[in-house]
Amino acid sequence: MSEFAFDEEIRQEEGAASAIRSETAETPAVAEEAESGSSRSADDFRRLSFYQIWIRSFADGNGDGIGDLYGVYDKLPYLKYLGVDAIWFSPIYPSPNADYGYDISDYKNIHPDYGTLDQFKRVLDKAHSLGMKVLMDLVINHTSDEHPWFKESCKGRDNPYSDYYIWRDGRKKGRLPNNWNSQFEGKAWEWNEERGQYYLHVFAKKQPDLNMDNPRVREEVKDIMRFWLDMGVDGFREDVITFISKREGLPNGLPFLPAINGMPHYKDGPHIMEYLEEFRAVAREYGAIQIGEAPYTPTKTALRYMSGEDRVLDMMIQFDTMTADCFMTEYVHLPFSLRRLKRAFSKWQYALEGKAWNALYLENHDHPRVISRYGSRLFWRESGTCLCAAYMLQQGCPFIYQGQEIGMLNIHLPSIDHYLDVASKNAYHSFHLKEPAKKRLRRIHLSSRDSARTPVQWTAGRYAGFSKVRPWFYLNHNYKHINAAAQIKDPASILRFYRRCLELRKGSETLIYGTYREYFPKSRSHYVYERALNGERILVVCSFSHIPTLLRLPKDWIGKPKTLLLGNYAKIHDEDLLRPYETRVYRMEAAAGSTD
Ligand code: NOJ
Repeated sequence: MSEFAFDEEIRQEEGAASAIRSETAETPAVAEEAESGSSRSADDFRRLSFYQIWIRSFADGNGDGIGDLYGVYDKLPYLKYLGVDAIWFSPIYPSPNADYGYDISDYKNIHPDYGTLDQFKRVLDKAHSLGMKVLMDLVINHTSDEHPWFKESCKGRDNPYSDYYIWRDGRKKGRLPNNWNSQFEGKAWEWNEERGQYYLHVFAKKQPDLNMDNPRVREEVKDIMRFWLDMGVDGFREDVITFISKREGLPNGLPFLPAINGMPHYKDGPHIMEYLEEFRAVAREYGAIQIGEAPYTPTKTALRYMSGEDRVLDMMIQFDTMTADCFMTEYVHLPFSLRRLKRAFSKWQYALEGKAWNALYLENHDHPRVISRYGSRLFWRESGTCLCAAYMLQQGCPFIYQGQEIGMLNIHLPSIDHYLDVASKNAYHSFHLKEPAKKRLRRIHLSSRDSARTPVQWTAGRYAGFSKVRPWFYLNHNYKHINAAAQIKDPASILRFYRRCLELRKGSETLIYGTYREYFPKSRSHYVYERALNGERILVVCSFSHIPTLLRLPKDWIGKPKTLLLGNYAKIHDEDLLRPYETRVYRMEAAAGSTD
């Protein structure tokens, strides 16, 4: 592996030029401004904002076309410039990549495509020196079928690993152990010739589910946690964590809703709290943050996990806000509904108020790009900035997914063979088979996770500045006008707006801790909410309309003096008129003469 920029940079001491920094006058100052190197201070995690890195497409530092830790190291000053406080790494461990890292074959190492443990440590230390925390992805519902545990487990029923996975005999007449379908690849059971039994895989065939009922497996998990925490990481994002306890007896699921028919029995199972408490005890020893991914979890269940001092998770990645244009999965597309989105936002805000804390997000590696879904290509900049304020200023920790902050858009590849994501391929080949191929491909364009996995567009130069050679996956051809370098220079850009929003939140106790209240929930074109704390009131007004609309203020805001804290148009010509996707953040000021 060439020692490209990364080691060179270390030799020159911290803070040497990064690709992006060299293109802007604004970043260098931030890079020098190192903060407390301490990773796990007694900080209140609720103040933090997070940036998710899906490393393969983030930045290639060693010139092989694949994103890596060298690239991450180079871009840390950029993240500091953006203003995020923590990085969540999607899996960077060795993996055959059947599900791009979510199929792990070694939990205590780094995928050779991305670097080494030593390089990871350097990234970690550098992030800490810039005042950023680092979270790893803990994927423990399943491993890769190439993990040594699984290979051993296949060997028979009486070796130390035989009970590490969920093995069953078939039912009578050659029927599978139960009727569950997997989320990604046909039935949830796969026959293993060597062992002469079926194993459970709730996701792809190459992702066998671990048997968390086995105390030895739980010890392994704790050991993995300690390995990374001892190295200095600050916590974990925990993959489909609510799936780790399955209902005893693995009963048949509902015969309808093919992709999730077993879910009622493999989600929130009888021992889930017990197991999560065990893991929490480890996290607590280190003061680590735990964020659990929890697909399709009702708020009441979510509170069981997240509320109180003895909570087992600090935050949860819920899925409701990702279904404003689809039914459960993006593959079943519906027209975007602002009201559905607002309902989801407010449902979580009200339910968690005073009891738990929200993880706020609109994009990650599992969903297509949000402007392509909830925004507008025509009003790309305006809708990108509007969406930013719409979610980020709610109560909770904002999460930004790589490329979201520059408004990256979906890709439309010419055939299903160009796509790589196992879930997209499976959906294409399993559902709506009677529809013409063109229509099915259109569904993929709307739904594929691959749209979020194209290389990040850093510059307008060759290969979008992502790499010096052809990247491992398709670049979106729009990189000439959608790229970070251009947006750093443009005060009106989406990137600069994200930065301003983060800054505004960071500087305002009201935006961090204040209560949330939604106004005009029935409006089909406006999203209006207020944050309030100790008498301070901040109003966020977002128009989702393509045409100008009249500004509607809540009754007790009318006629009151207010200051515009943030807006996504350079100037307001008419106070009462909102232009397409216009967004304003106001603070109410005390009326002259008032003593309040
Ligand atoms: C959720 C992850 O976010 C997704 O990318 C992955 O495919 C599944 N869990 C299975 O690990």
